Amino acid sequence: MNETGGLSLPNILLVEDDAILAQAYLEFLRDEPCVTSHRMTVASAIDAIGTEQPEVVLLDLLLPDSTGLDVLDYIKRNELPISVIVMTSEGSVDNAVEAMRAGAFDFLVKPVSAARFNATFKNALERQSLRRKVDAYEGAFAQSGSSGFIGASLVMQSVYRVIASAAASDATVFITGESGTGKEICATAVHSQSPRRDKPLVIVNCAAIPKELMESEIFGHVKGAFTGATSNRKGAAARADGGTLFFDEIAEMDMALQAKLLRFVQTGVYQRVGDDHTDRADVRLVCATNRDPLAELEAGRFREDLYYRLHVVPIELPPLRTRDRDVIAIANHMLNLSAVEENKRFTTFSPDVEVLFQAYSWPGNVRQLQNTIRNIVVLHDGTVVTREMLPDTLKNLPVDGGMATPCDRESPSIAPLWLTEKRAIEEAIRLCGGNIPKAAKLLDISNSTIYRKRRDWAEREQEFWTASPAPPAMTSK
Ligand SMILES: Nc1ncnc2c1ncn2[C@@H]1O[C@H](COP(=O)(O)OP(=O)(O)OP(=O)(O)O)[C@@H](O)[C@H]1O
Ligand SMILES: [Mg+2]
Repeated sequence: MNETGGLSLPNILLVEDDAILAQAYLEFLRDEPCVTSHRMTVASAIDAIGTEQPEVVLLDLLLPDSTGLDVLDYIKRNELPISVIVMTSEGSVDNAVEAMRAGAFDFLVKPVSAARFNATFKNALERQSLRRKVDAYEGAFAQSGSSGFIGASLVMQSVYRVIASAAASDATVFITGESGTGKEICATAVHSQSPRRDKPLVIVNCAAIPKELMESEIFGHVKGAFTGATSNRKGAAARADGGTLFFDEIAEMDMALQAKLLRFVQTGVYQRVGDDHTDRADVRLVCATNRDPLAELEAGRFREDLYYRLHVVPIELPPLRTRDRDVIAIANHMLNLSAVEENKRFTTFSPDVEVLFQAYSWPGNVRQLQNTIRNIVVLHDGTVVTREMLPDTLKNLPVDGGMATPCDRESPSIAPLWLTEKRAIEEAIRLCGGNIPKAAKLLDISNSTIYRKRRDWAEREQEFWTASPAPPAMTSK
């Protein structure tokens, strides 16, 4: 860790087998704001790249155990974000050309003057800093599938298409999905792509507001309507007039209030608490829940008539574990953002970390991934996130052909029956492009069986993975 006053200094690796030359180069770098280390062979240089994660490598080509081109090749193969300056002897320009082709940033011909050395070195550092900024910028914008979403998996592309076509109309959108799958950004995307985008989006979280205040929260109240109602107050419906009203966690809404909401949905008319008169609001409704709405209907906790009024355009957000490489795209995005925010140098993940990310089941979905990356960036230093930096749950994940296997570690090829069933059902959903009703039909089971099983799997997996210590949660929504 190379911290000075909260800023991390870049690591520089010098690979030169001639001790006198090496001494001279280190002298050139003496006043530069960087941390230097020196190696004399290809093998030890590659070792240092793994442990020190340098930003710039100053590389001699003729080394005792092999050619410096092997170091370049290693950096290129692993797509490491390092600028390499190659140093060649006079008369071996061919080597320099070959090194540039192999991905070197620049070359210096020996003997090198201090001025030339420092100018080339500064350019390389400058390039590294630019590269970090561009990565952060691209991470933030270029991978967005649909306002706010990152990820281009097939299942998410069909979600983006539904959002885009639903946004144009006033039809009510009903979003379901496990916790942390992005239901709130989905609601925001529907609003921001709709013709109502210049009007307010008002969010009512039905789980966060006490039951007795909920009616007033939605419809407002008049002065004196209840103890504490000291003045007239507009409700969410009035504030969202002309725009979008988003009922988050709708399944938590009280049955009595559901009847009042039904009336509003049917007629656009409502009454403030304590008011004899009726008011009108023109709102587009979006609802979300992480419960299985059909199970809520069956259990008598959700009014059927209201459900059918609201369930006009259903959007099912798939769990992160079914979104192919989206987990990597989102992780990269988060890494760049967190690195900028925390003033760290992280730019990428080592290949084995990517494998673990794809193998893990992410029961807390995107939110859990975000928290995990944030923790890594806060607690560690370097440019590459390595396996050692991961929380124990991920680091110790048994990986079997790219798939996480929560099974007995002594007989690793036998997975529990629930997991085998889960894989078959998730595969069917994937083959149906994320369409659960279609998959359920082909599997000859009901939609709600799938929802119920998914909740059960998430619990079982959480139990399994949290058997080892969980990462501390650093951020929450
Ligand atoms: N595809 C995505 N790309 C980038 N960020 C995402 C994506 N999906 C979710 N997020 C981020 O993950 C976090 C959780 O998303 P969100 O709050 O929308 O989930 P949710 O489904 O509403 O969760 P809950 O059911 O727990 O309320 C947010 O910070 C959101 O910005
Ligand atoms: Mg939410």
